[in-house]
Amino acid sequence: MSHAPLGSVDGARGAVPPPQEFVARSRYADPGVYDEAEADWVGWWEHQAHALAWTRPWDEPLAWDPPFARWFVGGRLNASVSCLDRHVEAGHGGQVAYHWVGEPGDRRDLTYAELAKQVGRLANALRGLGVARGDRVAIYLPMVPELVVAMLACARIGAPHSVVYAGFGAQALADRLVDAEAKVLITADGAHRRGEVLPLKRVADVAMGAAESVRACLVVRRTNSDVRLMPGRDAWYDEVVGQASPTCEPEAMDAEDPLFLLYTSGTTGTPKGIVHRTGGYLTHVAATHRMVFDHDPDRDVFWCAVNFGWITGHSYGVYGPLANRATSVLAEGALDHPSPDRAWRIAELDGVTTLYTTPAIIRAFRAAGEDRPAAHDLSSLRLLGSVGEPIEPEVWRWYHEAVGGGRCPIVDTWWQAETGGMMLSPLPAITEAKPGSAMRPLPGIEASVVDDEGAAVERGQAGHLTVPRPWPGMLQTIWGDDERYRRTYWSRFGDEVYATGDRARVDDDGDLWLLGRDDEVLKVAGHRLSSAELEAAIVDHRAVAEAAVAGRADPLVGHAIVAFVRLRPGYDADPARVAQLREHVAARFGAIARPETIVVVDDLPKTRAGTIMRRLLEDLAEGRAPGDTSALDDPDLVAHLVEATAEATGRR
Ligand code: WTA
Repeated sequence: MSHAPLGSVDGARGAVPPPQEFVARSRYADPGVYDEAEADWVGWWEHQAHALAWTRPWDEPLAWDPPFARWFVGGRLNASVSCLDRHVEAGHGGQVAYHWVGEPGDRRDLTYAELAKQVGRLANALRGLGVARGDRVAIYLPMVPELVVAMLACARIGAPHSVVYAGFGAQALADRLVDAEAKVLITADGAHRRGEVLPLKRVADVAMGAAESVRACLVVRRTNSDVRLMPGRDAWYDEVVGQASPTCEPEAMDAEDPLFLLYTSGTTGTPKGIVHRTGGYLTHVAATHRMVFDHDPDRDVFWCAVNFGWITGHSYGVYGPLANRATSVLAEGALDHPSPDRAWRIAELDGVTTLYTTPAIIRAFRAAGEDRPAAHDLSSLRLLGSVGEPIEPEVWRWYHEAVGGGRCPIVDTWWQAETGGMMLSPLPAITEAKPGSAMRPLPGIEASVVDDEGAAVERGQAGHLTVPRPWPGMLQTIWGDDERYRRTYWSRFGDEVYATGDRARVDDDGDLWLLGRDDEVLKVAGHRLSSAELEAAIVDHRAVAEAAVAGRADPLVGHAIVAFVRLRPGYDADPARVAQLREHVAARFGAIARPETIVVVDDLPKTRAGTIMRRLLEDLAEGRAPGDTSALDDPDLVAHLVEATAEATGRR
């Protein structure tokens, strides 16, 4: 490892040692933690589990029947008790759990005592609606305090929640309601988004029309939008909750009982309901939140600046921080609206010490003006984090200098919805971080980069990133589909090795550099979208016969969506049609899925076996000369595709 002095990182691989001042105040500065964890990794995770509140100890820490694991077998706990009650009982009821900031500028502080009461009320109200242990509750809310309240209320009564990102459209919501057979939906009248109001309840109405299982719907008042309440099904959240008692007996959950489902994009058109268990998940997210963010509940103000509808918000916006009695910031709406300085104003006002967000957001901050953060007093910041995509070394360096003032370590954390919590990351007081590298497995975790045959690659080589042993935050299964769980994650390299679907390179020091996905999953502004799901949304339009999407690398959003579309006979490829198609996808799937470019083609490039040649579409999307096209069924198609793409991108 090279030893570059602080603030003068040179070259993509120059490592930045932790600043002395940071190390001096850190609680996790002993490099011995890696060996200690490795010497008895199951025992080490047991030790982490003791930091939670259990009502019955486990009999066995891990039962591994590949590819199915059971963690803390026989143990009992309730996640809401570990996150709320025990802090209140220990005298911290008056501590702020969330500084909430609404998009229009309204603010509200929520203490642990207040949060606990609200959770109790909603939990009782849900029980009153007939929600029993094991029933699923869907949550489709903007970033309002009720989102966190709803998650914890579900945890309290043992009803797995399924949070659906409020930017998703009716079809995406309906698919998720149907697959989970959700009994209740909690939504809002509307959501603020860049000064406009998204009609959430109206979208929910369409979705509920297609989801018979939903028997009741609670509606949070947020935007005073005009909504219709269907008698017998819908009710205002505040009216129902206002009548309920704040005291609610927690359900004694088994460590293995599901805490929640979270749908994520896979390689097929149907989203996967990732199931997370109670004991293992909470252990993993609490331990990693504590270590990786060097978290001190009496010092830090933690800001997980992402939408909580994604796994990052579940693990490091809600469960990890609350288990560790953190004071967090919860911000509604876009971070650069109404002013590009909004994030820095919030950080300044609330004295944020730790900021965790995505490269897409960091790039947008930078694009808004390299020097903007300098106009604010960001001296409270001591640690910065990144998640969701590789962060380019030059973006890393800007984050480090312009936001962190050169004194804050950066933790580039690699993980997935499926892993539940962080897997690879620097430890801020120990690791000499290399800009752009997620570095190494965290203590207690193992990872290996392997070739196609499953053999570990040499240093300097790239391959598939795998996890060759269980970890507590690992998904339990895919909702209702154990077989798909096995096939998707545990078949490529045998049933004892978890295939992440990512590619990575091991450098000469053994540190890991993520290279992107092996499969057809796109990252658009940090959001994970599958090409198959996008294609289904396009083909759903009556004018479309067939569609295939590819990602164009975009300096700001990661991937921009380029859709290749063959129209049905009788439909014209005029600009109005193209505009209509883009809006169709946005309405069905959500604005994040709106294709940047639509290329109308005579036919899609297929091999003689009939499969779409995705590599060629990627070349076209990127504006590269097509590579080897000899496998194409119709080689004459290439010239047409090149021309159509050039024309469409010229129109962009
Ligand atoms: C990618 C988000 C590089 C990766 C927590 C992974 C990353 C997918 C990083 C999971 C990182 C996440 N560096 N790539 N630090 N973090 N990824 O499920 O491709 O939304 O497989 O979870 O994001 O996305 P997901």
